[in-house]
Amino acid sequence: MRRASFTAAAAGLPLWFVEHDIARAADQVITPSTSPNSRPGLALIGCGGQGSGDLAGAAKFGNVVALCDVKENALSGAVKRFTKDDKVPATFTDFRKILERKDVDIIVNGTPDHWHSLINIGAARAKKDVYGEKPLTLTIDEGKHVIRAVRENKIVFQTGTQQRSDRRFRLACELIRNGRLGKLQTVEVFVPAGLREGPFATDQVAPAGLNWDLWLGQAPKVGYMKERAGNSFRWWWDYAGGPVTDWGAHHNDIARWAIGQDGPIAVEAKATVDPIAGGFTTCKEFEATLTYANDIRQIVKTTTADSPFGGIIDPKGQRNGIRFTGTDGWLWVNRGDMSASKEEIFMTPLPAGALKLEESNNHMANFFDCVRSRKDPVASVENGHRSAVVGHLIIIAMQQGRKLQWDPVKEIFTGDGAKEANPHLVREMRKPYDYSFVS
Ligand SMILES: NC(=O)c1ccc[n+]([C@@H]2O[C@H](COP(=O)([O-])OP(=O)(O)OC[C@H]3O[C@@H](n4cnc5c(N)ncnc54)[C@H](O)[C@@H]3O)[C@@H](O)[C@H]2O)c1
Repeated sequence: MRRASFTAAAAGLPLWFVEHDIARAADQVITPSTSPNSRPGLALIGCGGQGSGDLAGAAKFGNVVALCDVKENALSGAVKRFTKDDKVPATFTDFRKILERKDVDIIVNGTPDHWHSLINIGAARAKKDVYGEKPLTLTIDEGKHVIRAVRENKIVFQTGTQQRSDRRFRLACELIRNGRLGKLQTVEVFVPAGLREGPFATDQVAPAGLNWDLWLGQAPKVGYMKERAGNSFRWWWDYAGGPVTDWGAHHNDIARWAIGQDGPIAVEAKATVDPIAGGFTTCKEFEATLTYANDIRQIVKTTTADSPFGGIIDPKGQRNGIRFTGTDGWLWVNRGDMSASKEEIFMTPLPAGALKLEESNNHMANFFDCVRSRKDPVASVENGHRSAVVGHLIIIAMQQGRKLQWDPVKEIFTGDGAKEANPHLVREMRKPYDYSFVS
């Protein structure tokens, strides 16, 4: 009873925080425009599960005018879903045709990770604003190119790390940044394990209606395999980073928001389960330790359904989330839940004058608000990059099999092992799918 009177029942958030948000929101109500002239033209590149979901959210603020996918069936499904009032969106296989269109103002990029950067750079060069899925990049070097393109062309860019627009995560980060746990000591990031499957048949024939070379893009040329082409792209190093950058892109972003630093200064990591030869190449399970300045340690590890965490880590049986531990207690947060070592940690209001983090309670609305104001959205391109870097560092350390020192400002490895590790900041891009593809 006592707890219920202090929390907003539906969200499990303390009432003081919700009331504060409501008061602030009253000054900044965002209403989707209904005037046809003020609704921007939207285009989706990559019409799979996530991209289509993103576009459905974006369509509240603009008009869908074009769709692009390298798979005909993904395109035809999206055409059905996004045809409105008999206005059928134009369809394309090559995204560069979309970038040439004058009626397209905004690109939603829902392609697999290995395509994110080139499409985002091409869109920036064409002066289109972008809502681009996480993780921002496939490599650390790509992030530098994406940031440059966004800034030189003055486009608005939102990274699809939507936990930045979730009140629960913002509250957790605000409490921690204001010292509610005392000195922050350890951040434990738990992500669901990846898949360990294979070997897969190597003599598969690409289905009609799929442009396999364009799907592969910058990644090495290999024969078609349905286990690569579907949304299991995330379990191959060639296209993604497995569990490290899948859920990791979200929770490492929140960890970094709470820590309040650009990046770690050291990293070590190991895969704890080997992949099956001829199957998915990313690790199923891993454990990594990152060190930040000020002696903060971040552990990132996979969990499985049978992980022995008990109630303290995940009271709702969910397999992912973040636990922050400081000198004065701990706080656990994930998409469904928040708990702490003592109730006062989140029940006691923050004092007036406490540090406030940027407020967004709807990631897509925040993007469109910024499209109008030309300000940076809550998951700016720099934030997207730096949080993706955490995952890429873990992967490089895992592959190098040693502890590495990192300079988060210069974005290079230093000290022992740096000579071997630094070449992995970049990957060779298969021609013609390098930066000149979108010039
Ligand atoms: N923010 C989130 O919570 C969240 C959740 C799931 C996925 N994602 C991200 O969204 C992205 C897509 O994931 P998904 O699960 O929707 O994958 P998916 O395979 O369902 O969709 C990707 C689509 O992109 C298409 N595609 C590939 N190359 C293309 C190209 N060059 N041009 C145009 N289309 C191309 C594919 O054919 C496919 O239809 C990934 O980067 C993933 O990490 C984010």
